Amino acid sequence: MTTELIHLIYCSTATHEMSEAELLALLAVARAQNPLLRLTGMLLYGGGVFLQVLEGPAASVDMLYKKLERDPRHHSLFLLEREPIRERSFPDWSMGFHYVDTNSPAGADFAGAFSLRQPGQGLDKPDIRPGIALEILRQFARSQR
Ligand SMILES: Cc1cc2nc3c(=O)[nH]c(=O)nc-3n(C[C@H](O)[C@H](O)[C@H](O)COP(=O)(O)O)c2cc1C
Repeated sequence: MTTELIHLIYCSTATHEMSEAELLALLAVARAQNPLLRLTGMLLYGGGVFLQVLEGPAASVDMLYKKLERDPRHHSLFLLEREPIRERSFPDWSMGFHYVDTNSPAGADFAGAFSLRQPGQGLDKPDIRPGIALEILRQFARSQR
């Protein structure tokens, strides 16, 4: 039997505005651990909001998501989609990352998708469709290459 490949897309609100050092520390752990679980994906952070896609074997993705739900660096996790996939959208990224300046043209889609009006506002009720979220994650992944 082949292992089921899924992706999981969620967004969350940062507990406090993340410093560059804090983001780098978070990424260092993600990039060290994800290959061991055969996980790939992309993380965006801007305006106090995280948007992340995790892809890999269902058991790995679900295990990490349980950890994420308990991580005090963010709260109000909102699961946008958990679906089987045929292939990975981010095969080359143990965890891609982009800091989104929500006032820049490139950040407009991100800010618009979450109706972010002011920096650091965070999310009460996310209003974003999974397809749009994935497209935004893909756009930022492309801009990094
Ligand atoms: C927004 C956000 C994204 C994260 N992404 C990952 C990730 O992709 N992979 C990972 O291993 N940990 C990630 N973490 C960190 C985990 O929540 C957890 O702290 C880390 O996996 C270490 O767990 P452990 O001490 O049980 O090994 C993320 C944390 C946050 C707040």
